[in-house]
Amino acid sequence: MVQEGQLKLKTLLEEETSEQLLVQMKPFRQLMMQYECALMEVATKLNVLDAEFSLEYDRNPFEAIKTRIKQPVSIFGKMKRMGEEITVENIERCLNDVAGIRVICSFPEDIYTIAEMLERQDDITVLKRKDYIKNPKENGYRSLHLILEIPIFLSDEKKYMKVEVQFRTIAMDFWASVEHKLKYKKNIKNPEQIAEQLKNCANTIADVDFRMQAIRHDIDRVAEQEE
Ligand code: GTP
Ligand code: MG
Repeated sequence: MVQEGQLKLKTLLEEETSEQLLVQMKPFRQLMMQYECALMEVATKLNVLDAEFSLEYDRNPFEAIKTRIKQPVSIFGKMKRMGEEITVENIERCLNDVAGIRVICSFPEDIYTIAEMLERQDDITVLKRKDYIKNPKENGYRSLHLILEIPIFLSDEKKYMKVEVQFRTIAMDFWASVEHKLKYKKNIKNPEQIAEQLKNCANTIADVDFRMQAIRHDIDRVAEQEE
């Protein structure tokens, strides 16, 4: 007789095997390669804007650009949560964030300058725009999120790929990384207080971001007067 536990393990193993098979299959690897290409294209566009901006204003608007492709295990986990069958076609249709790029800017206004430049490019379509800077999330999270569609040119076709771009300042990034770590800590005894403290920090950080920006404006104004 097969025990319930054994059955569960069997199903788990079978699922894992079918996922591992999918990862090894050419269509899945092709799709991941195509997302990589789309990421490279968006990263190049951002680097071009950075180069032009730094020549014009004598400073770099970006602190860092980070790209990542979602891990197969996260792709499958999300598809399952969405109740979708795991196929290459469904992954492409259902997920917006297989290819992700995070742009860390020095000042809040740089986020809008660069994002708008990117949005105006005629080979880019903005599928979604979420401004969590003007409208922060309830927990205090701030960033500007864009879901872009961008064509990649393969040997025999032009294919449109989705890329998620997150713009945030250094300070917003600092907050998001601490908050993200705390989310996975299971044994927090006072979650409400922690959430409130985090929200207070998010507000303080936002205030400091805009004060730093004002200081930079003051420095620029004085420099212009001296010129
Ligand atoms: P997913 O969360 O990706 O399923 O998509 P969504 O439709 O809820 O999109 P949203 O634009 O709200 O969030 C997308 C991504 O932004 C997340 O995967 C995180 O990387 C980041 N993000 C959103 N909210 C938070 C937050 O409260 N804290 C942190 N640390 N990151 C967040
Ligand atoms: Mg995501």
